[in-house]
Amino acid sequence: MGLVGNDPRDVIIERFARHVSSGKARFFQQAGIDFIFGRREGVHVWELGGRRLINCHCNGGVFNLGHRNPRVVKALRDALEELDIGNHHLISEHRALLAERLASLCPGDLNRVVFGVGGGEAVDTAIKLARGYTGRPGIISAEGGYHGHTGFALAAGDPKYSDPFKPLPPAFYQVPFGDLAALEECMSDEIAGVIFETIPATLGMVIPPEDYFSGVRELCDRYGAVMIIDEVQAGLGRCGEVWGIDTFGVTPDILVTAKGLSGGIYPIAATVYSDRLNAFFDQNPFIHVSTFGGAEIGCRVALEVLDILEEEGFLENVRRMADVFRAGLRELRERHPGILAETRQRGLMMGLKMIGEACGPLMTLAGFRHGVLTIYANNDTSVSQLLPPLIIGQEEAETVLEALDAMLAEVEGALGHVR
Ligand SMILES: Cc1ncc(COP(=O)(O)O)c(C=O)c1O
Repeated sequence: MGLVGNDPRDVIIERFARHVSSGKARFFQQAGIDFIFGRREGVHVWELGGRRLINCHCNGGVFNLGHRNPRVVKALRDALEELDIGNHHLISEHRALLAERLASLCPGDLNRVVFGVGGGEAVDTAIKLARGYTGRPGIISAEGGYHGHTGFALAAGDPKYSDPFKPLPPAFYQVPFGDLAALEECMSDEIAGVIFETIPATLGMVIPPEDYFSGVRELCDRYGAVMIIDEVQAGLGRCGEVWGIDTFGVTPDILVTAKGLSGGIYPIAATVYSDRLNAFFDQNPFIHVSTFGGAEIGCRVALEVLDILEEEGFLENVRRMADVFRAGLRELRERHPGILAETRQRGLMMGLKMIGEACGPLMTLAGFRHGVLTIYANNDTSVSQLLPPLIIGQEEAETVLEALDAMLAEVEGALGHVR
């Protein structure tokens, strides 16, 4: 049977429902979020055949440098003139260069790298290393945190994603994020590692107390556990420094980066770890491989991403735009006290906490009408995530703030009707 209907959108949705995910197609259609990416350029994305939006979701940081950043696209084109995936078993000039560069950007002695394809895989590697190095089983993570849908990453996440796949690997524990006393209570000499996102995005951009991570560091040292920081969303400039954890002045033992390292163009992820942990992989060099992890053309793309990140003016722009948003969010709190409960911000990692669970999805819908793509936090749908591209300019930032003002008014009005 052929595909019916004349509207190209209907044809796409029908094909997607039939061959990719019937459940997602149904959910998005019912929620009115059946937005299909069409043209994309810089900070903008166009709905297929329709509206232009400023992308303030950015796939959690994949589009930190905007869509189709010309320099990243050129790096891929140039790499394709001479390279391909490469051979993951063998010594690689390009993986070595990218690893050296990542090491130069990381704090302390984080100077060894295992490459992967995505964030979940890189988190799995981090947990493998923590268990392999310490010879202990226990892994502690945050309630409501999110590290991916792969094996160990899934086990470190919330039961709502992992329960159907039981039995899970044993000795995974969750504690409330930001609570040092709860962490201390869970610590023992059975704990291999502790993994936290610097700012848990899926939990709603929760900013921990300023001394939280130094406390986590101290507890890990005291109990001989490995401190793993998931910078898949918070890293690569998002918080105003190269790494979110830099803004807390703390050095973890393992740092995981992914999304933004791709430049939005070629998938790549990295698990960067301390020299001290190298004994494990040194003795077991073939215990972990990934065919596409650290693909050589991807290494060239990632090097260009890091060149841009390190250029003069890049982080300054993030901090300047963070100031614009800080002032704008303060004004929004004053203008919408009935709906906006709290704003959360570290650099350009921001969240709008509203008064009820329906608010995040309603804001997403209002954003479609007002030219801003925002998506709610999955583990707290009262929060709209706000992650504009890091290359955003002042005028665009002001456009986003004006749109947010109108969106909040609209959501408040909609809530008034159902009350
Ligand atoms: C903080 C964090 N860690 C890990 C992941 C998993 O990354 P991936 O989807 O590339 O496996 C995500 C994905 O959203 C994430 O937000």
